[in-house]
Amino acid sequence: MAGGRTGSSGNGGVGASGPAAAPPAAGEMARAVARIRGIVRTHSERFEHAIPLIASENLLSPYAKELLISDFHSRYAEGLPGERYYEGNEQVDEVENLCLDLARRLFRCSFADVRPTSGTVANLAVLKALTEPGDLVGTSRLADGAHISSAGFGAFGLRGVKPVYYAWDPERMTIDVPRTREILRAVRPKLCLFGLSLFLFPMPLDELRPTLEEIGARAWYDAAHVLGLIAGGEFQDPLREGAMVMSASTHKTLPGPQHGILLGNVPDEEVVRKLQSGAFPGVTSNHHLNAMAALAVSLAEHLEFGREYARRTVANARALAQALHDRGFDVLAAHLGFTRSHTIAVRVEKEGGGESVARRLADAGIIANKNLLPGDKSPKHPGGVRLGTPELTRVGMGEREMVRVAELFDDLLHRGRSTEEVRGHAAELKQGFTTLRYCFGAGEAAYRYYDLVGRDPA
Ligand SMILES: Cc1ncc(COP(=O)(O)O)c(C=O)c1O
Repeated sequence: MAGGRTGSSGNGGVGASGPAAAPPAAGEMARAVARIRGIVRTHSERFEHAIPLIASENLLSPYAKELLISDFHSRYAEGLPGERYYEGNEQVDEVENLCLDLARRLFRCSFADVRPTSGTVANLAVLKALTEPGDLVGTSRLADGAHISSAGFGAFGLRGVKPVYYAWDPERMTIDVPRTREILRAVRPKLCLFGLSLFLFPMPLDELRPTLEEIGARAWYDAAHVLGLIAGGEFQDPLREGAMVMSASTHKTLPGPQHGILLGNVPDEEVVRKLQSGAFPGVTSNHHLNAMAALAVSLAEHLEFGREYARRTVANARALAQALHDRGFDVLAAHLGFTRSHTIAVRVEKEGGGESVARRLADAGIIANKNLLPGDKSPKHPGGVRLGTPELTRVGMGEREMVRVAELFDDLLHRGRSTEEVRGHAAELKQGFTTLRYCFGAGEAAYRYYDLVGRDPA
């Protein structure tokens, strides 16, 4: 960073070429720290009373959370266990080896790398390892639910690879296999990415596998959203359906820390080495050892509790979809049972459009996100909202509570009940569901702010 950078680059900052920052007035920075703590406490309390339905979010178990503030947070461990560049890594190596063993066991695979620090970083590692700039890579369109990693302004663009888009079947909310076979045969991408951010149904890996073999393309699966469902045996099993490598975030349906992972059954040692060097030094230096240790705990917990958690998460998504459908909401893929994952998509044009509905829901204590849906006329005006059940399941809600959640939607968006009234009912519903389940230490407060010092700075 060039010298002369002063002030904040956020709202009200003076910019890179401004004058030197004024020294703080007495007590000013202590007040800033107190303020930051206060804001985060308010956030925690807000979520404790809310109905969080963001499909990509989840809650960390107490044992995993504890490791985030351990001394691992302060250390570096570049390289692989046993081959580090720094000293002092013996315990880190031991935990990372455990983490790798747990990952390979949970996903029944021979290769794991827990150094990517997020799902996007894991995707970049795969791109670095398996492509060269200019290569063609198969993927889905953003409008069909793909993640921004696949975009020119995202990881694909950064690596300089060119997307080859699969054909989409909006009725079945998945890839149109016959038309995609034709595209693949005609264009012959080197690598094919499967996986979505609006992920309702499994990808047709088995069906496309012969075509991929015919054109010599490798299959790569982005399991960011569905990792916990895959591990719990509730979605598809990409590594047994032809995917060579799987990249993922570890904090969505797998209720782990914010981190990333690579997994695979990679027969070729040379490819293993490329994936490893894609992760480091390709796209990381330090790999956030505190999060890696927390991930080891989350993997162990998922081996113990993950099947039941995944089953209930999917059952809740289907129950919520059915209850919304019964109340006149246009939930996509009704003829297919709405979803096989943790996510449902609701077209809300008649309720005012995705943006307005997501805003009104949030004001009433129901947290969701606007989402582009296939057929939307403009990317600036998403016609839908995406709803996910990982968090509500994690705090113990079941199918009965999903019906209550749908009633809140109905009250707010169809029956003209006031925002305040619905917010009150949302908070009432949440009251009995503020502790963690499906982990060791179950029953711990899910939204607690851990006050280590006991007071604000003087
Ligand atoms: C399909 C998919 N891939 C990758 C990512 C990126 O994950 P992260 O936020 O961990 O970088 C996401 C995030 O939501 C996603 O949906």
